[in-house]
Amino acid sequence: MSGISGKVIAITGASSGIGETTAIHLARKGARLVVGARREDRLTDVVNHITAESGTATGLVVDVTRREDLQRMADTAMDRYGRLDVLVSNAGTMAVSPFDDLRQDDWDAMVATHITGLLNGIGAALPIFRRQRSGHFVNVASTAAYVVKTPQAVYAATKTAVKVLTEGLRQESGPDLRVTLVSPGFTNTEGIGKGADPEIAAAMTRQRDEIAMPPSAVASAISYAVEQPDGVDISEIVVRPTAQA
Ligand SMILES: NC(=O)c1ccc[n+]([C@@H]2O[C@H](COP(=O)([O-])OP(=O)(O)OC[C@H]3O[C@@H](n4cnc5c(N)ncnc54)[C@H](OP(=O)(O)O)[C@@H]3O)[C@@H](O)[C@H]2O)c1
Repeated sequence: MSGISGKVIAITGASSGIGETTAIHLARKGARLVVGARREDRLTDVVNHITAESGTATGLVVDVTRREDLQRMADTAMDRYGRLDVLVSNAGTMAVSPFDDLRQDDWDAMVATHITGLLNGIGAALPIFRRQRSGHFVNVASTAAYVVKTPQAVYAATKTAVKVLTEGLRQESGPDLRVTLVSPGFTNTEGIGKGADPEIAAAMTRQRDEIAMPPSAVASAISYAVEQPDGVDISEIVVRPTAQA
């Protein structure tokens, strides 16, 4: 299935920021969405926004660290729409801090959300994609997967893992599936600095307000990868503000 119209697209981390904007963008182009995240009220807002514009969306409370939640997301796409064409693994947390702060719960959350969460999505969608002989994984990493800047080492390590897993998946995917890595730079979302060391959070928020690009820039990049004809794989996109060093 080429283009975007009619495709069934599941997006994790769709209750705010890049995921929310991407869901709305793709719905406007005729995709049918399954949107997942933990905050039900925010997901309801996203679904209401899409349906108010005559789009199609289903919201689902999903914690990507739980294998069964991703399975439920894939099952919902199959039950409601009969297929799953694209899984956008976007859920993420940017609770960065220096090692000396020993914020080990935040380290664990980054590993669980970015690495286990991505694997849970692959585990749920891959069998469906194989059966359909078509499907597209879009995995959201970060420019931190390319350049490590302190105090983002744990975040950067987990996003580097996303990059590595995506390339391995691409190599194993064969001629029927597509696999895309999208790595945004500074993007203007509520996630910047959220849960981070307060001093770091203030610096990140300041930098965001000075140089960040809108989340629509990332939504366009994802949309570009999705709308390619069958047999064309956009393997990697890095999209960053011009002002980002
Ligand atoms: N903003 C940037 O500058 C930037 C740059 C590079 C990469 N990124 C990446 O882009 C992605 C989206 O981030 P954003 O900037 O749009 O921030 P955001 O607005 O905070 O979005 C993060 C999303 O992930 C969801 N999420 C977090 N943990 C989750 C979990 N365990 N299960 C399910 N959903 C979860 C959040 O929803 P709930 O809290 O409702 O679950 C939220 O919808 C992340 O992977 C981030 O690392 C962002």
